[in-house]
Amino acid sequence: MLFLLNSNSLDKRYVWHPYTQMKLWNRSNNIVIESGNGFSFVDSQDRRYLDGISNMWCNVWGHDRPEIIDAMKKQLDTLPHSSLFGLTNHPSVKLAKRLTTMAKGMSRVFYTDNGSTAIEAALKIATQYWKNKGMSQKKTFICLKNGYHGDTIGCMSVGYVDGYFSPYKSILLKTLRVDSPTIRHEKFGPQNYDSYIVKIENILKNLSSKISAFVMESGAQIAGGINIYPKNFQREISNLCKKYNVLLVLDEIATGFGRLGNIIEYDAQNSKPDIVCYAKALTGGYFPLAVTLTTNDIFREFLGDYWAKKQLFHGHTFAGHPVGCVAALANLDLYEKLNLIRRVRDNSVILASLLKKFSELEICYDIRSKGLLCGIELRKDGIPIKNIDKIPIGHFIAKESLKKGVYLRTLGNIVAIIPPLAMEKHDLGLIVDTEYEIIQKLDQKIRRHR
Ligand SMILES: Cc1ncc(COP(=O)(O)O)c(C=O)c1O
Repeated sequence: MLFLLNSNSLDKRYVWHPYTQMKLWNRSNNIVIESGNGFSFVDSQDRRYLDGISNMWCNVWGHDRPEIIDAMKKQLDTLPHSSLFGLTNHPSVKLAKRLTTMAKGMSRVFYTDNGSTAIEAALKIATQYWKNKGMSQKKTFICLKNGYHGDTIGCMSVGYVDGYFSPYKSILLKTLRVDSPTIRHEKFGPQNYDSYIVKIENILKNLSSKISAFVMESGAQIAGGINIYPKNFQREISNLCKKYNVLLVLDEIATGFGRLGNIIEYDAQNSKPDIVCYAKALTGGYFPLAVTLTTNDIFREFLGDYWAKKQLFHGHTFAGHPVGCVAALANLDLYEKLNLIRRVRDNSVILASLLKKFSELEICYDIRSKGLLCGIELRKDGIPIKNIDKIPIGHFIAKESLKKGVYLRTLGNIVAIIPPLAMEKHDLGLIVDTEYEIIQKLDQKIRRHR
């Protein structure tokens, strides 16, 4: 029997949405997405929304790429799922080989099914690595303030963002947290990160016997406010980790596979991780799949007799899902065939020039971008703008954007433009123009109320 549902008959009460005050969730006007078309979503009223945040930073090719969808359908016809517990399958083996070929220095792939679990696996691997080596006192993580690594307990501990996680602070692991620099708009002058490195080195020098790993996003922090590291900052941390015998765990979940214009971001940053995580763009955003890659030095410490208990005690039902693995393989084929990284680099120049006009607006305190990652920080008289007409600024901008046909979210007072990686000039221009129109009106309104 065929049930035809339209959005009016949909009873939406039962879904508890992420990061959402459900009391404010207005059932009468929220948008029901029915289909994806190119880089847009189409809703039940046939309205289109251009995707300005690549569907939570994971979409690469738009929402209807046939090569990836066909590969997934074919896999569903032959083997919808087979776990990695005691068995293996072709797609997960092929993808692991391909990833270790791409990611310099990495030789093993541990599969999970989302970014947070990839990080949890990394934290457990780092901890057990030292235990297996007989150095279990090395168990503290050091990480950067404003880093974000996911929403599970371990992830919140190493990626603590106060604005999100203060309700859970009491149950998090104790970690060492150090300041991180960010590149700012030219008007702020050259960035000097030496003092940050001096502080980090002091901590590592004094506490390395207790520190297991340095955990940080690779290339830039995204959820913590679009903080782009100055050149060589990550390389220096990598060198310090080697010097003081601390593992380097890099999170490329949001920045890997092209966001900053490089397929493997740590390579571009001249850094050498011991463990590195990917998810999001790995499947072009078509399937939940994540990986934690390690060097052979790390992997070797997990070998031993069964009862020595050196094996990694971690595994998820859907880890290495064959449908996800074929999606990733088809996605990576497209990267090569269509030279995506080259396109991202070209388009990043276009995006940066489109963004210039925001600096005319008084409330645009800082505009930072690299690759296809951009943050426009809004402040009034130097103070972050929180509300507009008593509405949180983020809600206001997201709603106005949707009204104008753009799907976009902000990070507090920072408007984040994080488009699908294959998006071209015309659509990038539409998104930038839409945000400019909204922010310009805000700017005028704020000035009028002086
Ligand atoms: C850098 C980074 N790490 C980890 C995660 C967590 O990934 P997931 O949402 O798939 O759990 C995210 C998600 O935005 C992220 O940006």
